Amino acid sequence: MRWFAILIVILVLVPTASSAQQRWTWPEKTKNMKVFPQNPGPEALRSIMTGFTRALGVRCSYCHVGEEGQPLSEFDFVSDENANKDRAREMIRMLQDIQLHLDKLDRSGPKKVEVGCATCHRGVAKPMKLEDVLIAAWKADGAAAAMEQYDELRDRYYGRGAYDFGEASLNAVGYAMLEAGDLDDAVSVLERNRDLFPDSFNAWDSLGEAHMKAGHTEEAIECLQKSLELEPRNRHATQLLEELRGG
Ligand code: HEC
Ligand code: HEC
Repeated sequence: MRWFAILIVILVLVPTASSAQQRWTWPEKTKNMKVFPQNPGPEALRSIMTGFTRALGVRCSYCHVGEEGQPLSEFDFVSDENANKDRAREMIRMLQDIQLHLDKLDRSGPKKVEVGCATCHRGVAKPMKLEDVLIAAWKADGAAAAMEQYDELRDRYYGRGAYDFGEASLNAVGYAMLEAGDLDDAVSVLERNRDLFPDSFNAWDSLGEAHMKAGHTEEAIECLQKSLELEPRNRHATQLLEELRGG
C-alpha cells in the first residue's frame, strides 16, 4: 500500500504549496502609481516589472516590501517603504527626460536606438565599471579583497554584458595602484592580467612598467622584451627599455 501513502502525500502537499502561490495575480487595479499611469492592466504591469528584474538582475524584493522565498501574496507591493522603489521611480523619470533629448536628435542613421534600464544597468543593480568596483574594493579592504571580488564577479558574470572582463579592466586597476605608489600590489594585479592575457603586448608592457617602478630591473626588461616580440611597434616599451639600459 506504499503507493497509496505516496499519493496522499502528493495530494496533501502539492495543492497547499501551489495554492499559496496561485492566490497572487497581477492586479487589475493598482493603488499607488506615481510615475506610470494608474491601472496599466495586469499584462503591462507584468511586463514592466519583470523587465525591471531582468535589467537589474534582482528579484521583486529589491524594490518592494517582502521576503525572498515567501509567496508574492505576502508582499506589500503598494507600500513605498523600500527606498529602492522611489529610486526606481526617479530612474523612470530620468529615462523619460533622456527620451525627450533623443527625440530631438538629428540621428546619423535611420534606426532609432532603444534606451531602457538595461542600457545602463546591464543586469546589475549598481551600474559601475569593473575597474571602479575593484578600485573601490581595494581602497576599502586591500588588494587581496579586490582580487577575490574579481574572481567572484568573473565566476558569476563572465560572458554576460554586466562587466568588461577584457584586459583593459585589470590594467586600469594596476595603474591606479601604481599611481598610488602601491607597487607590490600593482605588480601582482598586472601579473594576473598577463596570466589571463599572455598574448597581449599591452599586458606585458604594463607589467614591465610596474616591475621597473618597483625596482625589479631584470623582470622589467624581460616583460618589455616580450611585449616588443608581440608588437614590435610598441614605442612605449622601447623607450622604457632604453631608460633601463641607459641607467
Ligand atoms: C527596480 C525596482 C522594481 C522591481 C525589481 C520590481 N518593481 Fe514593482 N514597482 C516598482 C515601482 C517603482 C512601482 C510604482 C510605479 C509608479 O509609481 O508609477 C512598482 C509597482 C508595482 C505594483 C503596483 C502596486 C500598486 O498597486 O500601486 C505591483 C503589483 C508590482 N510593482 C509588482 C512587482 C513584482 C511582482 C515584481 C517582481 C516580479 C516587481 N514589482 C519588481 C519597482 C520595482
Ligand atoms: C543613464 C543610465 C541609467 C539608466 C537608463 C537607468 N539607471 Fe538606474 N542607476 C544608474 C546609476 C548610475 C545608478 C547608481 C546611482 C548611485 O548610487 O550613485 C542607478 C541606480 C539605480 C537604483 C538604485 C540601486 C541601489 O542599490 O542603490 C535602482 C533601483 C535603479 N537604478 C533602477 C533603474 C530602473 C528601474 C531603470 C529603468 C526605468 C533605470 N534604473 C535606468 C543609471 C541608470
